[in-house]
Amino acid sequence: MRQLIAGNWKMNGLRTEGLARVAELRRAVQTDPPPCDLLVCPPATVVEATIRALEGSGIAVGGQDCHAEDKGAFTGDIAAPMLAELGCRYAIVGHSERRRDHGEDDAKVRAKALAAQRAGLIAIVCLGEREAERDAGQADAVVAGQLEGSWPEGGTGANTVIAYEPVWAIGTGRTPTLAEIAGVHALLRVRLVTRLGEPGRQVRLLYGGSVAPKNAAEILAFPNVDGGLVGGASLKVEDFIAIARACRPG
Ligand code: PGA
Repeated sequence: MRQLIAGNWKMNGLRTEGLARVAELRRAVQTDPPPCDLLVCPPATVVEATIRALEGSGIAVGGQDCHAEDKGAFTGDIAAPMLAELGCRYAIVGHSERRRDHGEDDAKVRAKALAAQRAGLIAIVCLGEREAERDAGQADAVVAGQLEGSWPEGGTGANTVIAYEPVWAIGTGRTPTLAEIAGVHALLRVRLVTRLGEPGRQVRLLYGGSVAPKNAAEILAFPNVDGGLVGGASLKVEDFIAIARACRPG
C-alpha cells in the first residue's frame, strides 16, 4: 500500500509562518513528487488558509483533534463536520498530548473517531505505551488494549488509520529499536486482521515519535509500517520532504 506521511504541527505557527511553510512544501512536491501520500495538520486557525494554499497540489489537510459530538455546548471545541466543511480529509484523534492534557481515554478516542467517520473524515487514531510500561514489558499489552478500546465500530482502511506513537519517543529524539517498532506493528496487524478479516490488511499503520530524515528510511522500510506521523520535523519543510522521499515506492 502507498505510504502516508502526516505532519502534525501541533500548536505551532501563526498564519504567515504556516502559509510560508505550505508554499515551500507545495513547491518542493511539484518539483520532485515523493513516492507517498502527504498530509499536513496545522493549528485549527490556519486550516482554512492551508487548504486554499494547497488546492490542486494533492497534499491533504487535516485537523489535530475533533469533538465526539457533531455540535452543541462545548466551548472551545471543534466538531468533525466543521473540519469537513473546510475541506479537511483527516482528523487526528487520541494523540498522547490530548490523552495526557485533556484526560482522553480510549472510549473518548473511539467516540471521536466515530465522529470523524460520520463527517466523512479519515480518523488517525493514536496510541502508544509510556516509558514505564515499556520498561515493565507491557508495551504489547498496552497497545493491544488501546487498539481494542479506541477502534471505532465500522472502521475500515478507508476511514481509519492507526498511529503507533510510544509516548516516550515523542519530541525526545529517542525511538524504539527497529525490532520493537516492527514487533508492535506486526501485533497491530494481527489484531486488525483478527477483528476485520482480510480487510484488516488495508488499514494503514503509521509510526510516530522522533521520526527524522536520519531514521526515516530504516523505519519506513518495514512491512506493516505504512507511513509516519511527524511532529517536530514537519515544521521544517526540508526535513519533512526528506522523510517523505525516504518512503518505499508504491
Ligand atoms: P515528534 O512528534 O515527531 O516531534 O516526536 C510526533 C507526534 O507527536 O505526532
